[in-house]
Amino acid sequence: MWWRGFRAAVLLLIAGLSACLHTTVPSPAGPKGILSFTNSFHDFGQVTEGDIIKHTFEFTNAGKGSLRMVRTESDCGCTTTEAAFREYAPGERGALEVTIDTRGKHGITVKSVKVFLENAEENIVELTLTARLVPPPHPKVENRAHATTDVKCRTCHLESGVGMQGAFLYHRVCAQCHGRKGAGAGARALNDVQWLGGVDDAFLREVTAKGQPEKGMPPFVEGVTPPLTGEQMDSLIEYIRSWGKQ
Ligand code: HEC
Ligand code: HEC
Repeated sequence: MWWRGFRAAVLLLIAGLSACLHTTVPSPAGPKGILSFTNSFHDFGQVTEGDIIKHTFEFTNAGKGSLRMVRTESDCGCTTTEAAFREYAPGERGALEVTIDTRGKHGITVKSVKVFLENAEENIVELTLTARLVPPPHPKVENRAHATTDVKCRTCHLESGVGMQGAFLYHRVCAQCHGRKGAGAGARALNDVQWLGGVDDAFLREVTAKGQPEKGMPPFVEGVTPPLTGEQMDSLIEYIRSWGKQ
């Protein structure tokens, strides 16, 4: 019957109208927005490694049409953002906060964040952040031999060597005191060919395991958790021995 067709047409018309009314972003033919940041670059300057740093970027929709901020994308899981992902009318201001977790990072760090938009003249806007990471100040050393037993010291001086072998292990847990490649630092050189010729493996193993608490050498097996495994100990002795053959 004619009225069925008519009713369907009216329903379609209403549905179409309400779809129009609910569309917040104007049709692509209309004016577009322009996301304009006061500054799209931020330098944090010097930052202590491990700090969580935040910066808020301010922006304005400098275009003639409304734009929609949809989402952001960053180059690592350590960089996250917070903003109101919604429509911004012409002239409307907003802010986007970027948080960077610097744990496990060293040196100059550069991070970028892409902001994805709809109905803007440029639908991707990029933000850049930089920081120069420096190690935290060293805690006061009262007793060198506590480096592997004191909870304040062991994350760096013992746990950093978990799962490592040979040269890598040495440079994580011995080099702070005995120097790079055994050259000596606060504690004696271990790459001294003459000295190496006069000590046997059993001695090296014993000193490394038990330490020499009275002289400031921390233990690496006895009374220490996690200990160096037998395999790790062998790899250390082999590495130290390699200096005696040069
Ligand atoms: C955040 C990591 C970290 C912590 C925590 C830490 N150290 Fe160190 N330590 C290092 C590094 C790295 C070095 C190498 C020298 C340097 O660059 O400062 C070092 C060097 C040393 C040295 C050799 C330099 C010297 O003064 O003779 C000793 C001894 C030492 N640490 C003992 C300790 C003791 C004891 C503690 C706990 C109270 C401790 N460390 C806590 C990272 C750490
Ligand atoms: C916190 C500082 C520190 C760390 C870390 C350290 N040592 Fe020592 N070590 C010393 C000190 C101090 C002595 C005593 C001799 C001296 O003053 O040079 C010593 C002595 C030794 C000796 C005996 C030297 C001798 O002639 O009696 C050996 C071998 C040795 N360390 C090996 C190691 C190895 C291997 C590691 C890593 C697993 C290590 N040390 C980590 C401070 C350290």
